[in-house]
Amino acid sequence: MSVHRRDTRVLRPGHGLPVKTIAREAAEAILAGELVAFPTETVYGLGANVFDRRAVNMLFRVKGRPTDNPLIVHIADVGGAELVAQRIPPYFETLAERFWPGPLTLVIPRNAMVDDAVTAGLPTVAVRVPAHELARAFLGAAGVPVAAPSANVAGGPSPTTAEHVLADLGGRIALVIDGGPCRIGIESTVLDLTRRTPTILRPGGVAAQDIEDTIGVHVAVASGAARRPASPGMKYRHYAPTTPVVLLVPRGSGADMMRRLQRLIRNGRTAGMRVGLLGAREFADLGADAFHPLGSGTPVEYAREMYNGLRALDTAGLDMIIVPGLPSVGLGAAVMNRLRKAAARIVR
Ligand code: TXA
Ligand code: MG
Repeated sequence: MSVHRRDTRVLRPGHGLPVKTIAREAAEAILAGELVAFPTETVYGLGANVFDRRAVNMLFRVKGRPTDNPLIVHIADVGGAELVAQRIPPYFETLAERFWPGPLTLVIPRNAMVDDAVTAGLPTVAVRVPAHELARAFLGAAGVPVAAPSANVAGGPSPTTAEHVLADLGGRIALVIDGGPCRIGIESTVLDLTRRTPTILRPGGVAAQDIEDTIGVHVAVASGAARRPASPGMKYRHYAPTTPVVLLVPRGSGADMMRRLQRLIRNGRTAGMRVGLLGAREFADLGADAFHPLGSGTPVEYAREMYNGLRALDTAGLDMIIVPGLPSVGLGAAVMNRLRKAAARIVR
């Protein structure tokens, strides 16, 4: 289906443009059935009014998203859940109290008001209150829940700046609210509260341990390898740039990783390939054709800069992008979940 090209307006606070004005204009656009990209603390979202079927369908089309992959519904505050929930399940209030606004998405039973397109026909709906000032002002002004996947073309790296959104969707959406780079840089944790055991469907900004500490019960982690994926989103290729990504899973010491990287880079270049490296700045001088630093290589720095780095290296005319992995604990588990999905090859 064709999507008409037109100008995308960019609204950035400052220079005499108050947050309130931006929120009002974005709210008007979304209530008029337009698509609005907005910053959150995790990644930029591409929003449509949950109660507007036409807008939701347009959202799937513009993103190129498979229609069996449901959307996260964004609300201004916990009370907004009443508009989409059929009932409030156990642990919901405790978790909302502790983690909202913030990078935790809760899957709960949904009511009949929510369009089937939003939930891909599932009896559940995913909700979250984002922590970004601009997102909350916009959602408050809109007064309707806003369905929003990450504001990128399906399958590619998520957007963490307004420039990323424009690179992917410029000319195809009405409006982008520019809030600068996202603070966390990796998507929310998705937690299913409709099962007997609360289950993490996607690791993210909130660690499993912190959820367990809050509700005092064991939390399960759904395996991405399950034959029938628990979260429809788990079965698609995700987060990948066009250039093949090679992920190096850590095993021994830092010195071991350094040697393995050196060897991979040397072998690639000997084979006539142009090799890029995305990693801690201590790896800057290993002889790659292009390098993008991830600070000192902590999970927080990986999360914040990883998608930007994948996008930057993807425009550098490389034949592969090598990424040293992290131990899969805490935020590192979320980082590795994304890198594994982005990777064309995983080296152990
Ligand atoms: O941080 C985030 O979560 C960002 C910002 C924009 O809020 N959004 C985001 O949306 O990452 P998206 O569409 O890229 O990922 C949504 C994930 C998918 O894996 C989807 O399958 C899952 O949430 N999901 C949504 N609704 C669901 C439901 N009812 N049951 C199970 N999984 C669901
Ligand atoms: Mg996404």
